[in-house]
Amino acid sequence: MYLMKKRPRRIRKNQFIRDLVAETALPEASQLVYPVFIQEGRNHFQEIASMPGQYRMSIDTLLQKMAAWKKLGINNYALFPNVENKLKNAKSSEALNANGFLYQAIKKIKDRYPDVNIFADLALDPFNSDGHDGIVENGEIVNDKTVEILSRMAVLQAQAGADFVCPSDMMDGRVGMIRKALETDGLTTTGIVAYSAKYASAFYGPFRDALDSAPRAGDKKTYQMDYRNSREAIKEIDLDIKEGADIVMVKPALSYLDIISEAKRYFKHPVAAYNVSGEYAMVKAAGKNGWIDENKAMVEILTSIKRAGADIIFTYHAVDYAKLRTEQ
Ligand code: PBG
Repeated sequence: MYLMKKRPRRIRKNQFIRDLVAETALPEASQLVYPVFIQEGRNHFQEIASMPGQYRMSIDTLLQKMAAWKKLGINNYALFPNVENKLKNAKSSEALNANGFLYQAIKKIKDRYPDVNIFADLALDPFNSDGHDGIVENGEIVNDKTVEILSRMAVLQAQAGADFVCPSDMMDGRVGMIRKALETDGLTTTGIVAYSAKYASAFYGPFRDALDSAPRAGDKKTYQMDYRNSREAIKEIDLDIKEGADIVMVKPALSYLDIISEAKRYFKHPVAAYNVSGEYAMVKAAGKNGWIDENKAMVEILTSIKRAGADIIFTYHAVDYAKLRTEQ
């Protein structure tokens, strides 16, 4: 006879016991932020080839779609503007056009749906003809000049009604300068979601297709983090918190679950994780080919990001996930 003292399978033997001992609840739609790509025009709804199921939309279309998404419990949106090439230049001057379509878009969304949270992405790449998150001079991404523009841009976003400004640029000192600019203008209720530990990643490819924003030369390694590092992520998050961030982010999510978990352990601030475009595209591509069960993979991925310690997940799966959850 085999006398075994420990049999871990006993607490896995049926669904009800598995549910009782589950350590992580599935994410709720209320914990997700849905990133959307907006562009000028009317009645525009164009699928992004490398992100099946995601669209570049004009604001009228977005407002219409949002009614249904809100019913699914999605009330947090990250906005990414697809700017026409003719408006892009080396100075990213369109970013500071107070009448530009991004600011109009924020106003229109908040007019129609005052209760949703708008997370305005704060970086120059959608407006920059060099395709970088900062101003390029003599082949270098200049820090302080970029931070100056970002601070003014943050004020415009906040004045338009953005609930949170989300610097995704990885320039040094930007959170502190943005906070100072917001305070100086009396914009005391606008929060900052800092993309604190943002890595130079191959997983941003489809996003750059969506905005036609890939760097024209070089890569983003002088400002985004090196994926060999984790202590450096803690340093970056620590700085952003000291400079006044309300929420900190780790990005991408899946190859960086260890960083999410460390961030959660070290800090008391809410931790967001960005399940980025390339991570989404892989699930979609394999799902389409019948190589994986797309829905199951989606639920597993989002749950694992939560298990790692993320309080908030930015994800393109938001609508599909919320639909699936209401069907179950
Ligand atoms: C740029 C920005 C990027 C993403 C969000 N903001 C791309 C980049 O840094 O090149 C990527 C999001 C995604 O891949 O889903 N400021």
